[in-house]
Amino acid sequence: MALRHFLSLLDLSADELQALLKRAAKLKALQQQRSSHEILKNRVLAMIFEKSSTRTRVSFESAMAQAGGHAIFMSPRDTQFGRGEPLEDSARVLSGMVDCVMIRTFKQKDLERFAEHATIPVINALTDEYHPCQLLADMLTYQERRGSIQGKTVAWVGDGFNMCHSYVNAARRFDFTLRIAAPASNQPDPAIIEAAGKHVEIVKDPRDAVTDADLVVTDVWASMGQEEETSQRMEIFAAYQINQEMMKLASEDALFMHCLPAHRGEEVTADVIDGPQSVVWDEAGNRLHSQKALLEFLIMGAPA
Ligand code: CP
Ligand code: NVA
Repeated sequence: MALRHFLSLLDLSADELQALLKRAAKLKALQQQRSSHEILKNRVLAMIFEKSSTRTRVSFESAMAQAGGHAIFMSPRDTQFGRGEPLEDSARVLSGMVDCVMIRTFKQKDLERFAEHATIPVINALTDEYHPCQLLADMLTYQERRGSIQGKTVAWVGDGFNMCHSYVNAARRFDFTLRIAAPASNQPDPAIIEAAGKHVEIVKDPRDAVTDADLVVTDVWASMGQEEETSQRMEIFAAYQINQEMMKLASEDALFMHCLPAHRGEEVTADVIDGPQSVVWDEAGNRLHSQKALLEFLIMGAPA
C-alpha cells in the first residue's frame, strides 16, 4: 500500500472515512465483548507530545495494547526533540524503528515537514490548525446516536481555532452544514472557510448559529499555548457560552459535544455538559475505537 498520512481529515476521502467509522464500530463491539483482536500484533507506535494530553495519550496507548502492539510515549523534556535535533533527522530515525508516529505539536508546518521525511504513516494528534482524530470520534458518536449526519446542521460556537477548522473539514467530508459563530478577533482561517464553500456559514450572533441545529459544539476559550491570554479571552468570549437558553434554540433532539477538557461556567454551563443532551463521555470513549481503526488503516491498509 502507498504511504498514507493523517495530517488533516482531508487526507482521507469521504468513502474512506465512512469505512473507517464502520470498522471503528466493529472494533468497539469486539473491545466491549473483550474479544481478542490483535490486528496490530508486534507493531509499534511512537507518540510525540509537545503539549499536554489525557485522552489522546491514553486512547492511542490503549488502542495499541488492545490490538497486540505497543506504544512509546515521548516528550520534549526527555528526548532529543527538546534539545533541537532537526525534525527531518528524527523522522528518518523513527522511520527505521517504529511502524507509525503520532505527533501533538504547535505548528501544522512542523508536522508536515516531519511527514515529508518519514517513510511511515504520521498522525496529527492536534496542532494549532487541526485536531482530526477528535472528529473521527465526534462523527462516530453522532452516527451512533442519530444515524447519518449528512444534510444536518451543526453549530460551532466559540474560538475559530483547531477544533473549529477540523469541523469545517468534517462538513466537507461528511456533507453537513456548519454554522460558525466566533468573535471578530477569533475567526477561523479564511482560506479553510473558503475551501469549504457552501458547507460553511459564518454568522455573527451565536443564537443564530444554534437555532434549529442538530448538533451544538464548543471548545475552551483559551487553548494550550494561549494561557497568557486567558483573562482577555474571558471577556471576548462571554457572549459565546453554551447554556440552557442556547440549547433551547436548537432542535429538540440536538446533541451537545465538547472535545474536553471543559471549563464549566465558561464555554459551557454544568447543566448542559452534565445534562441529557450531552454526549461528551461517549465522545471521549470513542477516541479509542476510532483511532484503533485509523491505526489499522494506516499501518496495515484498509481491512476487507
Ligand atoms: N480532546 C483531547 O484531545 O483531549 P486531551 O488533550 O486530553 O488529549
Ligand atoms: N482547542 C483545544 C483542544 C484541546 C483538546 C486546545 O488546543 O488546547
